[in-house]
Amino acid sequence: MSTSKFAQVGLYVERLSEPNLSTIWLLGQPVEHSLSPLIQNFALQAMGRSAVYLSAEVTPELLSQAVSGLSALRALGCNLTVPHKQAGFALCHRVSPRAQVVKAVNSLKFVGEGEIEGENTDGLGWVRGLEAQFQIAWGSVRVLVIGAGGAARGVVGVLGELGCTHCTVLNRTPERAENLVEELQVCFPGHADLQVGSLEQFSKFVAGVDLVVQTTSVGLDGRASPVPLPEVWPGHVILSELIYHRVTPLASSVSALGGAVQDGLPMLCYQAAEALAWWFDLEATKIPAAEMLALARRKISGPSPG
Ligand code: ATR
Repeated sequence: MSTSKFAQVGLYVERLSEPNLSTIWLLGQPVEHSLSPLIQNFALQAMGRSAVYLSAEVTPELLSQAVSGLSALRALGCNLTVPHKQAGFALCHRVSPRAQVVKAVNSLKFVGEGEIEGENTDGLGWVRGLEAQFQIAWGSVRVLVIGAGGAARGVVGVLGELGCTHCTVLNRTPERAENLVEELQVCFPGHADLQVGSLEQFSKFVAGVDLVVQTTSVGLDGRASPVPLPEVWPGHVILSELIYHRVTPLASSVSALGGAVQDGLPMLCYQAAEALAWWFDLEATKIPAAEMLALARRKISGPSPG
């Protein structure tokens, strides 16, 4: 082993042997391709925290046991990813108002004797990621949301919290969009204009908005699109997609038409930063979110040629 490799291993061994080392976990199924361990361990190291972030694949049947086990081991907390966010909500003794709106949690904190607190940082992470790239006046922005599942609930909930007054939700199953808007309208100012529509009406609605948020996983295969691909795109409209594993046909079309597009990587990194701030009770500005994003971007782009 080369001297530098040995020094590196020595560092890990020293770190993992710290007597008060805290652990934070990611529980999901699958978890093997997750970027969370990379960005979270980078941030923990950069912040000088005596903690490591580990991931474990857990089936839905064993989620409750796994969470109790982590609590018994005095882990600091954990992230929950697909498919555990809603089941995790039911395991909490207390949840934040934001998690209560979404009825799902992506972060748990183990406090006191077996007490579990729940938070959902997805919506806020999405906002912070968007604000890192674009200037958005939330009170006047008109938003079109594609999808009405768990991810859409997080986005719509936080839009209401930010004082957004124009929001339309398009979904394959219209009743689900209607239910979402009905349930979440309490988050919005009283005079807000909330509408629902079908996916086929996409081009009609795009003409009257400033921001489109694509929350479904359709397009992950690189071929499908949840809405008819646009033939024209208003120059000022931003497309925000929550997918980050690949460029979707919708994102390609919008880029080709000159529109601004953001993928889901900023959301992933900023929700991770918000969770760290929550676990350690810190201001979000103390978390190196931009560097976490740069690292994740390098990782998914692969090694640069040459
Ligand atoms: P998530 O938590 O990722 O949002 P979800 O709660 O299962 O997952 O929601 C998935 C969303 O993607 C829903 O809006 C779903 O539409 P339906 O409510 O009609 O099921 C949408 N979706 C999934 N597959 C789709 C497809 N092939 N075309 C269009 N929308 C789709």
